[in-house]
Amino acid sequence: MATAAPQSGGRLLGVGVGPGDPELVTRQALRVVAESDRVVAPSTAVDAVGRAEAIVRQASPELHMERLVFDMTAGGDGRGAREASHRAAAQALVRWLDDGEQVAFVTLGDPNIYSTFSSLTAAVRGLRPTVEIGSVPGIMAFQALAARAGAVLLDGTESLSLVTALDGPEALDAAIEDPTRAVVVYKGGRHVPEIAASLSRAGRLEGAVMGELLGLPGERTGPLAQLADGPATYLATVIVPPGARRGQGQQP
Ligand SMILES: C[S@@+](CC[C@H](N)C(=O)[O-])C[C@H]1O[C@@H](n2cnc3c(N)ncnc32)[C@H](O)[C@@H]1O
Repeated sequence: MATAAPQSGGRLLGVGVGPGDPELVTRQALRVVAESDRVVAPSTAVDAVGRAEAIVRQASPELHMERLVFDMTAGGDGRGAREASHRAAAQALVRWLDDGEQVAFVTLGDPNIYSTFSSLTAAVRGLRPTVEIGSVPGIMAFQALAARAGAVLLDGTESLSLVTALDGPEALDAAIEDPTRAVVVYKGGRHVPEIAASLSRAGRLEGAVMGELLGLPGERTGPLAQLADGPATYLATVIVPPGARRGQGQQP
């Protein structure tokens, strides 16, 4: 006879807290964390303050948060450790959810775009398939960069590709072939010089902007051509505007 999966009366909410500037944390995010029974933030160690926790600390200094430790090792080698940390985090969450708690998981930017929240929810659903899971949208780094750089990202019938370049600039190749497409590059900080060289070869470097550590200490924003003299940090975003309207939009 099949055993029924345990039920959970709690609710898990992924709460996007924006890219860094505490003023970009939405009122809804602040309300939801204030109303939740427990607020948890991802971290690389129990004694390390993660980005999302730091942002919420500034936006809501009186709020108590707990840390869930995640292995952030990138690439295939770290996969096993990453998955094990997601399972351990899910087990901790399930204990609270089974007690009927509303748990808010704060995360950088938006919780549904390249976020630990999606792997975490998959692990939680593996343990409690019917648990209620929701999210609160957050402002994303590329929106903050477009505003900071005065760059119109899309207009008319132009389209957008959001790519990740953790492993190198090849990730941009298909997207930059289409001149009507704007391209946003995430996770490419380590490869910034190669990304700039690739855009230059494709005739797409002009107008491209980079924002590093947006809203955080050490922020740098400016034309990619001027900032590509070495690797940036992991928290770097590049916007390549559509090539077809080069020279017509706002320039940083
Ligand atoms: C794991 S993804 C997180 C994306 C996030 N969920 C979002 O909605 O923007 C991490 C990437 O987001 C971008 N990013 C996030 N915060 C940033 C910031 N403060 N400054 C620049 N880029 C940032 C970088 O490209 C970084 O490599």
